Amino acid sequence: MDSQSNSPHVLIFPFPVQGHVSCMLKLAELLCLSGVNVTFLNSDIIHRRLLRYTDVISRFSRYSGFRFETISDGLPPDHPRSGNRVVDIFDSIKMVTKPMFREMLLPGGCLNCGSRPPISSVIADGIMCFTIDVAKVEMGIPVFLFRTVSASCFWAFYCIPNLIESGDLPIKEDDEMDRLVKGVTGMEKYLRLRDLPSFCRASDLSDQAFQVVTSETQETHRANGLILNTFEDLEESALIQIRKHIPNLYAIGPLHAHLKSRLEARMASPLRSSNSLWEEDRTCMTWLDEKAQKSVIYVSFGSMTMLSREDLIELWYGLVNSKKNFLWVVRPNSVAGDGQNIPAELLEGTIKRGYMVRWAPQEEVLAHPAIGGFLTHSGWNSTLESIVASVPMICWPYYADQQVNSRLVGEVWKLGFDMKDICDRMILETIIKNLMDVKRGELSRPVDRMMKLARRSIAKDGTSYSNLNRLIEDIKTSKT
Ligand code: UDX
Repeated sequence: MDSQSNSPHVLIFPFPVQGHVSCMLKLAELLCLSGVNVTFLNSDIIHRRLLRYTDVISRFSRYSGFRFETISDGLPPDHPRSGNRVVDIFDSIKMVTKPMFREMLLPGGCLNCGSRPPISSVIADGIMCFTIDVAKVEMGIPVFLFRTVSASCFWAFYCIPNLIESGDLPIKEDDEMDRLVKGVTGMEKYLRLRDLPSFCRASDLSDQAFQVVTSETQETHRANGLILNTFEDLEESALIQIRKHIPNLYAIGPLHAHLKSRLEARMASPLRSSNSLWEEDRTCMTWLDEKAQKSVIYVSFGSMTMLSREDLIELWYGLVNSKKNFLWVVRPNSVAGDGQNIPAELLEGTIKRGYMVRWAPQEEVLAHPAIGGFLTHSGWNSTLESIVASVPMICWPYYADQQVNSRLVGEVWKLGFDMKDICDRMILETIIKNLMDVKRGELSRPVDRMMKLARRSIAKDGTSYSNLNRLIEDIKTSKT
């Protein structure tokens, strides 16, 4: 898969956290498969972890038009870069990374030198709109933005000025959180105050995360186009709304499945493609092999969730008391105030049906026949992976976009249950029993239907398949 000196050269620049890097790498590989030259710009820290825990170098070495470059995220190496400290990256990236990015992108800078064709367009993370100022405005290079959240969540972010105008925001102390909100067009029938992105819960609208996400979203129209990891049948109504403001929209997901399908079409053999920033513990696959079909609930809260010790224990009792098998990912340093993360009392004695790992090969886990349900934080990648694997969900959202996603899963798509804002062992036990037994039949129809629609969208001439081809054509011909 050769680089061609007359082919376009795209710079892909993700926000430096797992959920963003991982799916933008998938987009990078999809572009490589179409003969586009790609430079992938990682933060130093992310890149070191990718090298340590994955085979990305050998995986991408078959694309001669691909290369990695690195840049500082501006934070000290020991910064946690997770939980509510993620927002620190916003400041440092504007202060430190932006001027470095400009230097690197100038003719003769390391992104634009050597025998490779010059960068002809940029695909930047949609929460880094400074790339528009540098690449498009200063240097005349087209910029496409990629948002890792659902279209529905993007639309809710986009409507924040309406929510302020309609009086829905800021949320007041005596507000009824189950009240429906008026300001998000198309979602008036089901979106409650508690389902708005978590940043909207800030009592003070000068809150940094709220401000950043609101202003970055409002700037999207300045880009040449918006790329979303979703598919038309899943989020048609949100996509219709967004297109009224940002007409050049590419819904090309679910990316992980789209990549797999195009790789299979090219090489006729499925490949494992981990982009994990932690070491995957594959012993859980052997453990799953011994379990009956649909008998295990998989528990994972993504790459940034921080659990309190109380929540961890409550969830654990809910799982154990449900008497179902469970496979639980407890990421290193993801439990507040506990160096060991998993309290010793949970590891000793009572677990008979549970297996805990620090990081799992999630896509493979979800595809395993033993998995019957997913207790998830409703991160968008996890939601799409669950849909493609046809696994019903119990949603326990942590922050950002997850509050919106979980509402859609529970109320609109009927792919599971939304346990938002509740962490109670008895409630969890009941919901698990409903998901795995009592309401399994009821859930299976919408779950199977959505899985089929997802697969249809990425099949030849499906909507995501065609939208990706259109993106590639536009990259090849685009001008500022
Ligand atoms: C965050 C947001 O919550 C998400 O909605 C946004 O789109 C990207 O940033 P994160 O919290 O990490 O991401 O969740 P998610 O989007 O679900 O991504 C987690 C990824 O890590 C998934 O692709 C999942 O397969 C992978 N993962 C998780 C593993 O490979 N192993 C694990 O043990 C846990």
